[in-house]
Formats: sequence, structure tokens, C-alpha cells
Amino acid sequence: MNKSKFKAKRILVTSALPYSNGPIHLGHLVEYIQTDIFVRFLRLIGEDVLFVCADDTHGAPIEIKAAELGIKPEQLIANVYKEHVKDFKDFLISFDNYYTTNSPENKHYSDLIFGRLKEKGYIYTKDIEVTYCGHCRRTLPDRYVKGKCPKCKAPDQYGDVCENCNAAYKTIDLIDPYCAICKNKPIRKISKHYFFRLSKFSKKLESWLKKNKNLQQEIKNFVFNWIKNGLEDWNISRDGPYFGFKIPGEEDKYYYVWLDAPIGYIASTDNYCKKKGLKTEDYWNSKDARIYHFIGKDIIYFHFLFWPAMLIGSGFSLPYHILVHGFLTLNGEKMSKSRGTFFTAREFLQKNNAEHLRFYYAGLLSGRMSDIDLSFDDFGKKINNELAANIGNFCYRVLNFLNRYFDGEVKDVDNNKTLINEIKKLTKNIEKSYYGLNFNEALKGILHISSLGNKCFQENEPWKLIEKDREKVHKILGLCVNIVKNLSILIKPILPDFSLKLQKQLNLQNQKWSNINFELKNHKIGKDEILIKKIEEKKEIKQSNASELPASLRAGSQTSRSETCSHVTFPLNLKVAKIIDIKEHPNAEKLYILDIDLGAEKRQLVAGLKPYYKEEELKSKKIIVVTNLKYAKLRGVESQGMLLAGDDGRNVGVLTAEHSNPGDKVYLEGFENSNKELSFDEFLKISITVKNSKAYFENKELKTDKEIVRAERVKDGARVR
Ligand code: 2FM
Ligand code: ZN
Repeated sequence: MNKSKFKAKRILVTSALPYSNGPIHLGHLVEYIQTDIFVRFLRLIGEDVLFVCADDTHGAPIEIKAAELGIKPEQLIANVYKEHVKDFKDFLISFDNYYTTNSPENKHYSDLIFGRLKEKGYIYTKDIEVTYCGHCRRTLPDRYVKGKCPKCKAPDQYGDVCENCNAAYKTIDLIDPYCAICKNKPIRKISKHYFFRLSKFSKKLESWLKKNKNLQQEIKNFVFNWIKNGLEDWNISRDGPYFGFKIPGEEDKYYYVWLDAPIGYIASTDNYCKKKGLKTEDYWNSKDARIYHFIGKDIIYFHFLFWPAMLIGSGFSLPYHILVHGFLTLNGEKMSKSRGTFFTAREFLQKNNAEHLRFYYAGLLSGRMSDIDLSFDDFGKKINNELAANIGNFCYRVLNFLNRYFDGEVKDVDNNKTLINEIKKLTKNIEKSYYGLNFNEALKGILHISSLGNKCFQENEPWKLIEKDREKVHKILGLCVNIVKNLSILIKPILPDFSLKLQKQLNLQNQKWSNINFELKNHKIGKDEILIKKIEEKKEIKQSNASELPASLRAGSQTSRSETCSHVTFPLNLKVAKIIDIKEHPNAEKLYILDIDLGAEKRQLVAGLKPYYKEEELKSKKIIVVTNLKYAKLRGVESQGMLLAGDDGRNVGVLTAEHSNPGDKVYLEGFENSNKELSFDEFLKISITVKNSKAYFENKELKTDKEIVRAERVKDGARVR
């Protein structure tokens, strides 16, 4: 995407609305920082852009949490709202309007859209069976019913999946179900619900996806697949007690939170427009406007199917772009409270600088959906070597030199054409990268310019040259000051605060993209100061004690988004492991217990290999292990992952990588390994098969950096499990 394609009169940008029941954390911030960089760039270059968001306040978890705290949901969401607003402010997220979905505007638009859809026959009612707690007097969502797993009989399992044996089942099949809130036995009940005929929109959605050239192809592909497999109608109502908007004409039925949440995008726009004397329809009903949604890959279904179908059905504009980003991992692992790697925004800020995170994320963000990793080691290196040693150092030494030797006066600019042209070319590319959401590329370009500036300063040795040719030095400094000024503009979307302070030192204000030039002359700069200090390496990201936070802000399990899709990245995190010890399982004939070395850690696996392998055949073998599988107990012994083996119906043979080292990554060309924890059920859906003793997933062979993985002993067509 380049500037010439940007013909919209108005641009509306949104980030996904965070739930009101927990704090903003480092995972959320990937998206808010990404969106903010884009919006700040658009403003800087002179686009007419509006950035709106809101708290997502409705739903059962919020209602139940408030009840547990003994407060009204309104009180809970008001408390959380204040914290969210403060977190966003401190991370320099520059919303034009940050609103709430529990607003009159949102009620208005929810009723309007619901009414239009109903009128057109897109909404119907149907009786369905629900689980109901007579004691709590409420219908129970899946996660609020517990009982014995119908398969392995493990107690206290949720209504959808067993955490012990990973079986998936219906709530109705739980043995001795009980209400997770009051522990009483629930009953089954028939209840009328409202359904949205999503199925009627297949064709229209498909044609929108085909026509829209901005959407990421990788995502379109699997949305097409969903459509091809048939879309099911969507239950858009919930029984009371519920925190949300009542459905018109109903006594105790509410819109499901996912109905009114995206409508919150319109409501927040409307709230802003009213305050500013603008028209909401200029954004939501106009060919002159472009709507950009930024979302995470866990909510693709809602934004690529339900939401556009609702918009089509009720006559609003469709999004111009929905930018989907990946998940955040910390040191290659999922954020985890127990491992001490779960950071709220507030915890991060207690010991770290918000702009450091913005800088670090910018360096990883591209317009693609791949996951991004915040590595503690890398974080310190990037801040110190790139931000401090390159940009920070260059700006400081130039301004300091100018103040010291020339009383801060810029006179003339050295006409170094080669350097100036190179910087102009880089600037063009940076502009393109910002427009195309490739902030990692933009940042590379900025660092390149700063390196060129440093080189120019260094090679001219002004501290020596000043003795011989003071005038020449003055001109070189003039050129360098212009580079500093240009850097202050180029980096502003990423580091707005640094940019502001740097421009203050330059005695300039509010420089626009059009001020990127070499024309700053006959100008006196202000006082110089070191703006970026190095941080202590190794201990780069510090965590404070989470329990010091107010209860309302401690991370709750409901803060993370629940809908997942694992089809784009390769969902398995595979590593080479060496078998170091083998024992027989005490309670199972066919199982071995294996101690394995994964390079950085040792784990224990339980594997059904006894009928196929003698102990000595396995000893020291280098096998392939799924490391992101939920730990499970097999006949009372914990298995911390799973080895991969082919099974052709007669033989079972393990996958091996004998020339690789324990801990080496096993991957497929062109696929990103996921770090997301996987249930056994999800694992079973992944189809890897053997051909010519190699293991294939979607026509790509599993390999390490050193070799192609081998499948022992099995015939072509064997399934890998
Ligand atoms: O997944 C979530 O965190 C939701 N609260 C996002 C809602 S985005 C929009 F559709 F409202
Ligand atoms: Zn109950």
C-alpha cells in the first residue's frame, strides 16, 4: 500500500475492545501499540484519521465476577475503565475516543441493527436445551458447569473439555454435574433463543472477501474454508441474569456480548462525532471513508463472518481492512502466571519504560499474522544497541557538539549529495513501510539513517577538524542536525515522547512528515540532554509482585480471549529430544516412561511403545517431541508432552533426527511453529502422514536445520500420532 492508493477522505481505525474484567497485559499491548503506530503515522503525514475504542463491558463473566465481589457490574466496569484508561495513557496510546459498550449509543445501535436484521428475516427464534442452576437461578455457560469427565471419570472437569484426558464432550454428558458457583446440581431446561441466519450470508461474504484486496491472503484462505464447510446460524441471545442489553420485547433475555461488542465500534464513533459536531454516517455509511480494524487471530471468526454479515444485513459499510496480528510469547513460551512470565501493563511500567516496549514491538511487527516473541535477552540488546547506542547516541553527540562549539547555532548545511540522496531514498521506503504496516521495515530504515548519521560524524572527526577548518565542521554539524530533525519525525509514530523531547532540544515543535528535509538553517537549538539511557542487560524486564495490585486488577482467567484458531501457523511446537532413560509404567502393560533431554530442559513422557520397541532400542534415540501439548496424566503418571510416531496399522515407528541436537527446532518450510498450548483433542485433528520414510504436513516435510526427519519402520500412508 503506498500513498497514492490512499485516496480516502476519512479513515476510521479501531483496536479490539478489551474486556472489562481484567487488566491490560503485554499481550494486549501488541495490538494497541501496533494500531497506535499506524494512526500516529497517518496523522503525521496529514491523513484525516479517527482512532476509536472502548471497554467491552457485557457478558456472564463480568456479571458473575461482580456478584463474587459483592458489587454491581456497573461498579466493576467503572473501576476497570479507569485502570484501562490510565494504562493506555501511560503506553502513549492516542485514542481519539475511548468509550464503553455499556452506553446509550451502543444500546441505540444494537437495537437498530437487531431491528433491521429482524425486519429482513435474518433473525428467528428456536427452543434449545440449556443447563440451569435452580439455586443460583441462572442458566449456566459451559465454563460454569463442572462434573466428572464422562470418559476418564476425573472429577471437577469443565462442561466442555476434560483437563485430565483431554476428551471433548457436551455439558449434558458430564457425570454428576454441579454448578461451579454454588456446587448444587443443575437441571436441563428448554429456553427460547434468538438466532442470526449467518448461513444466508455465505455468498455475500465470499464475494466481499474476494473483492477486498487488502485482507491478508493467509486469513482469507481459511475463512473461505469455513464458508465452504457451511456456516451455522448464530445464537445471539442469553438468558438473564446477564449483564447486557435487554432484547426489545423480552423480559429476561439479553443480546449476547459478541453481538453488541463490535457495534461498540460504531457507538464510540458516534459518541465522538456528537462531541465534535461530526456525522457518524460519514464514517459508517460513506464511500469516502475507510474502516480499519486491528484484531488478534483469536477473534477472526467474529470479525470476518459475524460482523461483516451484520453490517451487510443492516446497511452499514464493510471494513476496508482487518489487520490480524499473532499472539505474543515470552521467551518463546506462552505467558504464564505460574512461571512468572505474565505481565500486566502496570507491572511492566513499575520497573520499565513504555517507549522501550513500543520500540521493541515495532521491531517485530509486520503486516503478517505470525506470533511475536518478547525475549528478555533480546529486549535488552535491542534497547541498548539500537535505541541507545545508535539513535540516542547520535542525536546527543550532534546536539552536544553544536552547543559546545557553536553556541547551538545552525548556519549552513554541508551539501553531501550522496548522503542526502540516500537518506531521501530511505525515507520514501520508510513511508511505504508505515503505510503497509511493516513497522519492522520502517524501523530498520530509521536505524539505517541513524547509522549513516553516526558514520558521517565519526568519519569527519569534527573534534580534530575543528582546529583546521571550523567552517567545514559547522556545515557538517548543520547536516547532522538536519538528520537528527528528520529522525525525530521518522520515529515519532513509534516513540512519540522521545520525538517530542528531541524536538524541544532542537527548538522545534510539531514537525510534520513534510518537514523531513535538509532545510533547517540559521536556527538556534535548545539545551541538549541525554534522552536514552542504556538499561541493565540480562535483568531487562523486571516483574514486580503481582499480589501488590488491587484485586480488581489481578489477572483473571477470563481476560484471555477464548476463541482460537490454529490453522494458519503450524500448531505444533516440535523439538528434537534425546531419550536418556526408560522405565516401565507401573500400572500399564503397553506404556513406557521416558526421561528425555530437550536441550534447555528435561522432561518425562509416557508413550505406548512397549509392544513395538525394546528398551535398548530406544535408549539414546533422538526423537521428535510435541512440547506445547497440555500435560496429561496417563494411568497416574504425568506425560509432559508427546513423542511423534507413525502407525500404519501393523507397525509403529518413532520419528527420529539422529544428526540433530536435543532442543533443535523441528519445522516445516514456510510455516511458523506455534507456542500456544494445545489440547490432545486439537492435536488429533492435525494430520501428518508418512511417505518414503518422511513425515508430511500439507505437502511439506518435517525437518530440522540439519536434516529431514525420518519415520522408522512404517509404510507409506502411516499416520503420525
Ligand atoms: O476478545 C476480546 O477481548 C473481545 N473483548 C474483543 C471484542 S472486539 C469487538 F468486536 F468488540
Ligand atoms: Zn448455582
